[in-house]
Amino acid sequence: MKKELFKGSIFLNPVPAVIITSKNREGKVNAFTVAWIGTVCTNPPMLSISIRPERLSYEYIKETMEFTVNIPNKYQVREVDYCGVVSGRKINKIEQLNLKIENGYHISAPFLVDLPINIECKVKTIIPLGTHDLFIAEIQGTHIDKSLIDEKGKIHFEKANLISYSHGEYFPVEKMAIGQFGFSISKNKIINEKFKHIKFYEEYRKDKKKRKKILKKHKK
Ligand SMILES: Cc1cc2nc3c(=O)[nH]c(=O)nc-3n(C[C@H](O)[C@H](O)[C@H](O)COP(=O)(O)O)c2cc1C
Repeated sequence: MKKELFKGSIFLNPVPAVIITSKNREGKVNAFTVAWIGTVCTNPPMLSISIRPERLSYEYIKETMEFTVNIPNKYQVREVDYCGVVSGRKINKIEQLNLKIENGYHISAPFLVDLPINIECKVKTIIPLGTHDLFIAEIQGTHIDKSLIDEKGKIHFEKANLISYSHGEYFPVEKMAIGQFGFSISKNKIINEKFKHIKFYEEYRKDKKKRKKILKKHKK
């Protein structure tokens, strides 16, 4: 692989794109889009979002130290983009987009009812970094669309039609898993059978000349 070296910049791709809802002390609700988000701790369950101080949401979240992460599906990509390019200082985005909200169970910030996953968070620490401040928050509770949960209680996020964000563009997340945690060392026959395509990947990587042929075989 031949590579080009770039100076330090943001090339971590893909990332999620989510809509954050918040409510200020006067009860005004706002929604804005965030891509600089990540899981930071398992126990206590924590995540972080990075916010520029000029955002209206920054003010709201700093006032109440609460926010909800709403994870969209691909059919809501327009709403995701809109909440990321229009400020609540100019337009009430919730009204404009006709977004249904419901009060949080653990916090006062509401969540977006029609987005499949809603994560209620309380801010624990704010760290100024430069352009953005890092908000580290503890997850208080999560609402998950019932249609994603099977009879055994397993959650199938792959059925939610989630999206990712990569270098300025939104992409659908594939439904088919290409591997699972620990499968690379698994001796379980069912798991090995499920991910047997991995042999094709190895062939593909090794033999540049035969790649087209290998892909054709794999598709069958
Ligand atoms: C895909 C996408 C991702 C974004 N990610 C962030 C982010 O992580 N942090 C941030 O401060 N702004 C981010 N923005 C910009 C804000 O969402 C945008 O400035 C928004 O209009 C702020 O709304 P508000 O003033 O109502 O809070 C993003 C925008 C888009 C379109």
